[in-house]
Amino acid sequence: MSLSLGAKMAARAAAVEEVLAAHLPPEGGVPVPLTAAMRYAVLGGGKRLRPFLVGAAAEAAGGGGTGGVILQAACAVELIHAYSLVHDDLPCMDASPLRRGKPSVHVAFGEAMALLAGDALLPLAFQVLARAGEGDVVRRAVAELAWAAGWQGLVGGQSRDLLAEGCEVNRAEVEAIQRGKTGAIWVAAARIGGLLGGADEGRLADLTAYARRFGILFQLTDDILDLTGDSSVLGKPAKADAAKNKATFPALLGLDGARRLA
Ligand code: IPE
Ligand code: IPE
Ligand code: MG
Ligand code: MG
Ligand code: MG
Repeated sequence: MSLSLGAKMAARAAAVEEVLAAHLPPEGGVPVPLTAAMRYAVLGGGKRLRPFLVGAAAEAAGGGGTGGVILQAACAVELIHAYSLVHDDLPCMDASPLRRGKPSVHVAFGEAMALLAGDALLPLAFQVLARAGEGDVVRRAVAELAWAAGWQGLVGGQSRDLLAEGCEVNRAEVEAIQRGKTGAIWVAAARIGGLLGGADEGRLADLTAYARRFGILFQLTDDILDLTGDSSVLGKPAKADAAKNKATFPALLGLDGARRLA
């Protein structure tokens, strides 16, 4: 019997939770505030959508969606995402007190521990990925993740996002912000899954094209929900983007325009 998409996603999320827990420092690990902040940032929350795409891309390439190597790679991608949320919420960035329905890491552990927990999750992601398996595809996967996490990808996009606050920006710049801060990790998730699932270059290109569009749709949806959603459902403050004068598609095109584009 095949599972519904929702049941499949829930089962994958549970598997991801278990593998993440196994790779994080143990409860009570020394130094305690750092390890506790790392566990708090990663465990017990989040939709785990990026790991799901890693598995789905592997399946699309003909490989298994839950095999040990693929699951571990999926967790590496989630660790990058989790670290990025910790830093995104810091007072020097989006200054957001709520994440995944709980006080943000800097609220719970202080700003310095939040910064350091993010710093520690970033190399942990690469350790988990590098140890997922052997050979050339794993080496390529590490390079994909590094590209997506770095200045050409997530960090570059986050800096563009901050620099654009309160500025008049055109559509090309909004797209560049979203491609970097959000899209790059979606592309990495699809390509890493594809690579580990045995995709040839043609299939990898298809997965890349899909993930690029999905990344834009994802951030568009996040920005629309920021305007229309409820904090208690979102698990993070609503209407935060307008308060910060963020350069988003709804700010550029209006809510209806953003919905049409989505
Ligand atoms: C939030 O991502 C950050 C964005 C890139 C918009 P998610 O909506 O996937 O957050 P979690 O992991 O489910 O908390
Ligand atoms: C966050 O975008 C992107 C990254 C964390 C890299 P947002 O700032 O819109 O995400 P939320 O709304 O705080 O989750
Ligand atoms: Mg942000
Ligand atoms: Mg934010
Ligand atoms: Mg947002």
